[in-house]
Amino acid sequence: MSGLPKTRIQFYDEHPLMADFFGEVLSGLQHQPRQIPPKFFYDERGSELFDAICRTEEYYPTRTEQQLLRTHAAEIADLIGKQCLLIEPGSGNSEKVRLLLDKLQPAAYLPMDISGDFLFQAAEQVANDYPWLAVHAACVDFTVPLNLPWCPANRRRLIFFPGSSIGNFDPGQAEEFLRNLHGVAGDQGSLLIGVDLKKDPSILNAAYNDSDGVTAAFNLNLLHRIQRELDAELDPALFRHHAFYNEHQGRVEMHLVSQQAQTLKIGEQRFHFDKGESIHTESSYKYTVEEFVELAGRAGFTSRQVWTDPDNLFSLHYFDVGD
Ligand code: AVJ
Repeated sequence: MSGLPKTRIQFYDEHPLMADFFGEVLSGLQHQPRQIPPKFFYDERGSELFDAICRTEEYYPTRTEQQLLRTHAAEIADLIGKQCLLIEPGSGNSEKVRLLLDKLQPAAYLPMDISGDFLFQAAEQVANDYPWLAVHAACVDFTVPLNLPWCPANRRRLIFFPGSSIGNFDPGQAEEFLRNLHGVAGDQGSLLIGVDLKKDPSILNAAYNDSDGVTAAFNLNLLHRIQRELDAELDPALFRHHAFYNEHQGRVEMHLVSQQAQTLKIGEQRFHFDKGESIHTESSYKYTVEEFVELAGRAGFTSRQVWTDPDNLFSLHYFDVGD
């Protein structure tokens, strides 16, 4: 008997301020066009629904990226070398990094997330499943310029940013965020990032309108959350999920469309909606390989390798800092 399993991870907590849900919903609904940031999708139910989206037939990005990581893990290991520091901003459940660890043999894994409890559990599970690996978790808001709480100087850093999460930023914000990552990578550092590709709009439209209605439930869950947590007078059933590829902007847009004229009440505020008026809840930008290499280049990165799947659905980029 070894008794209770003992915590082997290091946990650094910056106690990041939780987003102001009330304030951001009010200001987003006052804005024209009306909008609510996609970060508010991910309450407990929203996170479950997102996992379910990833398992739908139509949503190809998750499984395609997983296959790319599996197939090319050894090449990635050759590029970065053994004993790197593997840094993952927005690590969530730390599921994808597992596809790299055996081949990469990093000296340490540094997951970062804003949600402390979730981060702690995920980090502990990684530490349990990879007993040889040092895990230094940091509860921080990775969207603001960050310093690494723990980072020995003499090791190369590999920043891992999978899932096409970069697609949620407007191109200008994406460049700023990448420049921030460029600073974190430091001298000799690298970036491994998953980016969804531009493709036939019918494939994109299907991926965000799955036939089981999981994406619709994910989008509408935002209204249930507003109703419950902000004590709003609103009926989610009076809105419909609407997602489409905006070819001109190069992005999938998700909206919640009012099915009739109605007035929502949140606190003291009232919001009148015409029939057909929408709330823009998410943009998911798509890039060609060349467009993304250029964007990352503006943030200081140099492309070393790009892997895509045979159907050209998804790209995995490896960049070095500088040239
Ligand atoms: C997690 C932002 C990459 O944009 O594809 C999936 C979120 N929204 N289906 C994406 C999402 C609707 C996803 N990202």
